[in-house]
Amino acid sequence: MHDGLSHLTPAAAILLTESDERRIRAIRSRRWILYPRAKQALDRLGTLLDQPRGTRMPSIAIYGDSGMGKTMIMKRFRDDNPPSFDSGRGALTTPVLAMEMTSRPGERRFYAELLTLLGAPQRPRADIAQMEQAALRIMEAIGVKVLVIDEVHNILAGSYREQRIVLNTLRFLSNRLQISLVCFGVNEAREAISGDVQLARRFEQFTLSRWAANDQFETLVASILRNTPLHRPSVLTPASMRRILQITEGITANIFHMINDLAIAAIVSGHEQITDEMIEQWQPEFDVEAAFA
Ligand SMILES: Nc1ncnc2c1ncn2[C@@H]1O[C@H](COP(=O)(O)OP(=O)(O)O)[C@@H](O)[C@H]1O
Ligand SMILES: [Mg+2]
Repeated sequence: MHDGLSHLTPAAAILLTESDERRIRAIRSRRWILYPRAKQALDRLGTLLDQPRGTRMPSIAIYGDSGMGKTMIMKRFRDDNPPSFDSGRGALTTPVLAMEMTSRPGERRFYAELLTLLGAPQRPRADIAQMEQAALRIMEAIGVKVLVIDEVHNILAGSYREQRIVLNTLRFLSNRLQISLVCFGVNEAREAISGDVQLARRFEQFTLSRWAANDQFETLVASILRNTPLHRPSVLTPASMRRILQITEGITANIFHMINDLAIAAIVSGHEQITDEMIEQWQPEFDVEAAFA
């Protein structure tokens, strides 16, 4: 039925022996696909782990529209650097600690979130100084090198005063523990971080721009297709590539959603490949919820 397996990665090729249901499930549940821009981001983040401790640790802010793949990159970075036993220190270390900025954060909510993540939730009435001390002590003990904060734009939901306090807290943690910070957020997050000039200065910025008609986009689509267990290769014309861009508005989540949807249709219909015609006829449901789930 198929003309060779060279159009697939080994993992996708193995799936071809599975039932249609299982292949569809594999497409729906696909976890992570590496594309060049994500690799660049991960490589940049990786350099933070080799950094000797010191005052003014370098930090990175990654900005991009909702659905551009920020949280996926964050999780990848965290999972690539899991807790491990450090024989030098004779203790378990957690090099990367990843959290989400709470909605409308203040100092208390920030520390409460951090301490819960550290497995040390505090009494509701604990005072902030205690919370701060507990967080410092535990982070020091587990050897955190990088604190990652997703949804950093949530800072903007606070009053001016609250924003200053949260930024101050971040700077304080970075200085005191000599750790790097990594912040992920939508483009407005730039504004949030620039509220603290000293903090902003140590951030290198990395932007995940919407996809455009270029090699990078072609590589992304090719990577997704190589990971999609269809018996026949999908060869798309430039017109189809433009149509994908147009329908998805260059948003990573929408691109994955569209190609997954088409691949499932190709399995159900027995075509076993995505054709220009299918792309031409594909109707977006504008089901943003599903695309972002
Ligand atoms: N590298 C990737 N591999 C597989 N799917 C991805 C990848 N990046 C993004 N996606 C898809 O896009 C969706 C949105 O990505 P997400 O990281 O949550 O975006 P953001 O945090 O920027 O809003 C994910 O749920 C997933 O379906
Ligand atoms: Mg996200």
